[in-house]
Amino acid sequence: MALNRSRLDRFLSTTINISRRDTRILFAQGRVQVDGRTASDGNQQIDRFTCITFDGTILQDNKPRYLMLHKPVGVVSATRDTEHRTALEILNEPENSDLHIAGRLDLNTSGLLLLTNDSRWSSRLTAPDHKVEKRYRVTLQKPLNDSYVKAFNQGMYFEFENLTTRPAGFKQLSLFVAEITLQEGRYHQIKRMFGRFRNPVLALHRISVGKIQLCPTLSPGQYRELTSEEVSHIQGFAAHTRFL
Ligand code: URA
Repeated sequence: MALNRSRLDRFLSTTINISRRDTRILFAQGRVQVDGRTASDGNQQIDRFTCITFDGTILQDNKPRYLMLHKPVGVVSATRDTEHRTALEILNEPENSDLHIAGRLDLNTSGLLLLTNDSRWSSRLTAPDHKVEKRYRVTLQKPLNDSYVKAFNQGMYFEFENLTTRPAGFKQLSLFVAEITLQEGRYHQIKRMFGRFRNPVLALHRISVGKIQLCPTLSPGQYRELTSEEVSHIQGFAAHTRFL
């Protein structure tokens, strides 16, 4: 999704169909308000969440949204799919809500899925350089043993992508259950890592992304808005300022 940053005079000229030069008259007359303040400079940067009014009429007023969904197994992390229900379809939101998924989960993975209409926030959250930690609970078919910890901590070479995975956290919770912490999200990463041990994953559930934890009161398929604290929790990933 485009980040949609633009100049105020350009926005006005296309929205109310006047020349950029004429927008200066509107500023001089104090007829344009930006986020509640009278605008005076056409160079001012705006984006899709900037509230803009002209003579008291709202020209743009989009609210940033940040949601956590308890994704059920069998729901696909996509906008559209011909075979399965999508995460966007199970939300009770208008079709034109502009929401998109920030960090996908496989079809048969459950747990925390984040959605937003703020592409600046989602791109910061998912940028590989930011190394936001994602925590998963994994149930395996065969018993675990001590050799897993070192292999996960060291990282594994994936021939297809010609890369070594970043060090992953491995905490054994019981004979068949482990908690894995990833700093990245390679294709089927956890299943492929356990595949090295010929140990099939029976269930995979995402518990958290950064400091945002899946709310324990959300049943599969339920969702809620993130709190402003959750949105801004991830250090250096400031959400859109109108939200905070
Ligand atoms: N690793 C996987 O294999 N699947 C997911 O959905 C997430 C991490």
